[in-house]
Amino acid sequence: MKNKALFECVECGYQSPKFYGKCPQCNAWNSMIEVKPEKDEEGRVIGTRQVKPVVLKEIDNLEVQREMTGLEEFDRVLGGGIVPGSVVLIGGEPGVGKSTLVLEVSGILSRKGKKILYYSGEESAVQIKLRANRLGVDSESIYLLTMGTLEDLKSSVEQLRPDFLIIDSIQTINSQKTSLISGSISSMRYVTAEIIDTAKSNNISVFIIGHITKEGQIAGPKTLEHMVDVVFYFQGEVKTDLRILRAEKNRFGAIDEVGIFRMTEKGLSSISDPSLLFLQHRQTSEPGISLFPALNGMRAIMIEIQALATESPFAGNPRRITVGCDPYRMAMLISIIEKKLKLPFYKSDVFLNVTGGMAVRETAADLSVICALLTSYKNMAAPRDLIVIGEVGLTGEIRPVTFIESRIKEAVRQGFTKFILPASQGDIRVNDNVSLVPVENLYDFYNKIKN
Ligand SMILES: Nc1ncnc2c1ncn2[C@@H]1O[C@H](COP(=O)(O)OP(=O)(O)O)[C@@H](O)[C@H]1O
Ligand SMILES: [Mg+2]
Repeated sequence: MKNKALFECVECGYQSPKFYGKCPQCNAWNSMIEVKPEKDEEGRVIGTRQVKPVVLKEIDNLEVQREMTGLEEFDRVLGGGIVPGSVVLIGGEPGVGKSTLVLEVSGILSRKGKKILYYSGEESAVQIKLRANRLGVDSESIYLLTMGTLEDLKSSVEQLRPDFLIIDSIQTINSQKTSLISGSISSMRYVTAEIIDTAKSNNISVFIIGHITKEGQIAGPKTLEHMVDVVFYFQGEVKTDLRILRAEKNRFGAIDEVGIFRMTEKGLSSISDPSLLFLQHRQTSEPGISLFPALNGMRAIMIEIQALATESPFAGNPRRITVGCDPYRMAMLISIIEKKLKLPFYKSDVFLNVTGGMAVRETAADLSVICALLTSYKNMAAPRDLIVIGEVGLTGEIRPVTFIESRIKEAVRQGFTKFILPASQGDIRVNDNVSLVPVENLYDFYNKIKN
């Protein structure tokens, strides 16, 4: 039986037996391509194999076999090492360091006697060699396959029987068997299904790199994320060497883990105590500085918020500039200060900065931002080593925050003992030498830091 024509939108994956100049689902123009229905030559649906059920009890315990890479933060986000036969998708912007990360991990694994097959459709063998030299990856058990098709990859897997397979990137690998355009949604779905199939049947662990779209999602069908076991996003704050690996999905671990790295010339190094990175321990307290235990996933990290309020030369139209903080949130907090404390902030230019290239997007930092703003404005220092936590409502009330125990625990670990926190959370249990000062509203807070 002859297969009927099928058209698919490369933007959203909409399929139709009819061709449209404009996709009826996402309204993209000229985005329909002809694709082959997802059946192979014998008419079987792609992805089906002859498989037999296994007795649950006879399946080896995954936990015991996890492979630790020794790249501490990477293992942490994985949930404690690599699970054999697992497929991990890593998304991130160009230049963030995806290729660096997987090459570094390959280096570590090969030193442990593992065999790695590295497919790169992005760079030439020479380029990869240069990076390997820079990272100090020198091994006889990393095999490179540059350019080539899915079929080349599969036959290399047959020949080499690697322990790990790296695909850099999924957008650049194509199959000879289909007429699909490489990088199209159907092509990626097909290639990924084939790779997963190969991985699961040979017990190979796979790392797949994926490009991300302007919106920050992994380019391709959402189904790509459903197909794999683990989805990571590798992120970096612009122009800093800080990199954060975040688990978006993890069948073998918690998704609220984050791994924090620094990008150096020699590659990525784990930062296991990030609070130290963002905190400058000062002997004296200064106006305009406030410390805050921010949450990244489930991990609290101490950050420093700095504010500078100076008399504005632009009467009635002062400057409001933020780095690492939402400008609208700051504008709102300033209005609350003006209204509740009757301080004429409109006469001041205000600059707000989170140090170390970090960003705060949590409302739990409101009161800490206000602390920095107020102390700069009044040119007074808050008590030394004071930590301020709380969300601020429009009426100036201090509202409770999430995971306050984890935040306080991290600050205590860094040696802080004085906390201002929301009154409704003033009864949380901490050890004896920690002092908690509950506050009801902004006025209450101002009086507490004034003295
Ligand atoms: N000589 C170098 N010294 C320090 N960092 C470098 C050097 N060369 C490249 N890098 C870092 O590596 C990044 C590129 O990493 P790469 O793994 O190719 O990213 P991706 O694969 O995500 O596009 C650069 O943005 C830069 O931060
Ligand atoms: Mg790359």
